[in-house]
Amino acid sequence: MSQQSESDARPVAAVVILAAGEGKRMHSARSKLLHEIAGHSLLSYAVTAATSIQPEHIVVVVGHQREQVESHLAEIAPHVMIAVQEQQLGTGHAVQVALNQLADLTGDVVVTYGDVPLLASETLAALVVDHRDRAAAMTVLTAQVPDPSGYGRILRGSDGLVEAIVEHRDADEAQRTITEINSGIYVFDAEILRSALAELAPTNAQGELYLTDVLTFARRSGQTVSAWTTKDLWQTEGVNDRAQLSRLNAELNRRLLQGWMRKGVTVIDPASTWVHASVDLAPDVTLLPGTSLEGATSVAAGATIGPDTTLVDVEVGEGATVVRTHASLSVIGAGASVGPYASLRPGTTLGAGGKIGTFVETKNAQIGAGAKVPHLTYAGDAVISDGANIGAGVIFANYDGLHKATSTVGAHSFVGSNSVLAAPVHIADGSYVAAGSTITGDVGVGELGVSRSRQRNVAGWVARKRSGTKTARAAEAALDQRQVGESEQQDQQVADAPLQDQHVSREA
Ligand code: UD1
Ligand code: CA
Repeated sequence: MSQQSESDARPVAAVVILAAGEGKRMHSARSKLLHEIAGHSLLSYAVTAATSIQPEHIVVVVGHQREQVESHLAEIAPHVMIAVQEQQLGTGHAVQVALNQLADLTGDVVVTYGDVPLLASETLAALVVDHRDRAAAMTVLTAQVPDPSGYGRILRGSDGLVEAIVEHRDADEAQRTITEINSGIYVFDAEILRSALAELAPTNAQGELYLTDVLTFARRSGQTVSAWTTKDLWQTEGVNDRAQLSRLNAELNRRLLQGWMRKGVTVIDPASTWVHASVDLAPDVTLLPGTSLEGATSVAAGATIGPDTTLVDVEVGEGATVVRTHASLSVIGAGASVGPYASLRPGTTLGAGGKIGTFVETKNAQIGAGAKVPHLTYAGDAVISDGANIGAGVIFANYDGLHKATSTVGAHSFVGSNSVLAAPVHIADGSYVAAGSTITGDVGVGELGVSRSRQRNVAGWVARKRSGTKTARAAEAALDQRQVGESEQQDQQVADAPLQDQHVSREA
């Protein structure tokens, strides 16, 4: 047993990720491996699983659309090695190409695919443990599937041991009824793998070098070949077309939401709620239907998001509510309220207890604690200090056609409805802007800024210019009414005169 634990401590020598294939059925200008589920590329999941078992080397075998794949890898996983397979001569050839980069390798070599995103790191680790426990030369991850067509079939002898893997295209009628399939994920002993690969011949229906033939070689040289079966079929499913991409995306999302629900997040409708793998949620968060949380979004305890809300790289504070909103690269403070129908563009920060209300668009806007921008506003390049109140329909006009500029509103100041702040203007702390003003200059502390023409009423205009209309008749009727009212009032004043003189209240 002590020998066992010594060997378990030894790191896996290498993980080889096969990713040179064409991905024809995606019909995409983008490499299949760069297509995403839950916000991350298919390839990134394979690299993450490989990295988690801490091997000495990770080699990704690239071929088709390799410029795209290589630059993506440089971004997400600079620690991996790249092996170029110029021609896709088969899975055996691909592994050969990888091993050429790793001279004198000894120990365990794990082989996985770049397009099998749900394979869990725990499964890889368990496969390695089982391989070591059995002192096997090769261990293959298999699965029992309802529809095995297209897959390599696992042939077992009467003793239950694995004897061969036969590809669907090379299988006979009887072999095709076998439902145990080869996932394509293996652990090999490096030295046996290397010598077996040197022996491979393309004597099969596809004229390829089959990695699966290593099994036959290992058995012939008297080595142990083992199989480890997973019940979780999703972990062995690869993406070949957009339908599978969508299926696996939905399944991963379901698993992510299950995980969050177990940690105390309420999800009203998992089918219409989407969270990227990179999102972070606290207990007692509530996600309402139609919510999509993407990128580096985090939501603190007690916050409620949705319905119909998309947050991309947004930080939401404790107890905040975000209703029917689209927001990106923004920070929403604790207890703040956003929406319904708000658009928060990059650089928006909303302080604790603040409000961004209905039909409000913000961009590069710092809105202080308790500040309110409740209705129909555009706040671009704005600094709105704590407790300020922005009236309905206020526009921060931040662009003069050449340059963007910032306007500021001081603490607890009021900007009246339907005002335009032509940037850059500074409304000081504790000041007012009168409704309907177009503000082109600063407003000082404690001042009222008014910028609009004084109102003037033209008496008799309707009678002169709109005679005969319903409006004119309404005016006539109202004037008649008023004359009757005035004469009655005069009569009343006469009657009341003695009482008024005695200071009797007439409040009623
Ligand atoms: C392979 C297995 C099959 C298994 C199935 C599981 C062989 C011979 N067959 O079949 O038993 O059931 O996977 O999905 O191994 N690749 C390269 N270079 C190549 C060829 C393939 O990098 O020259 C990569 C592909 O990009 C892909 C993976 O290897 O990620 C599997 O290749 P694919 O052609 O899909 O193998 P299958 O024929 O499906
Ligand atoms: Ca395949």
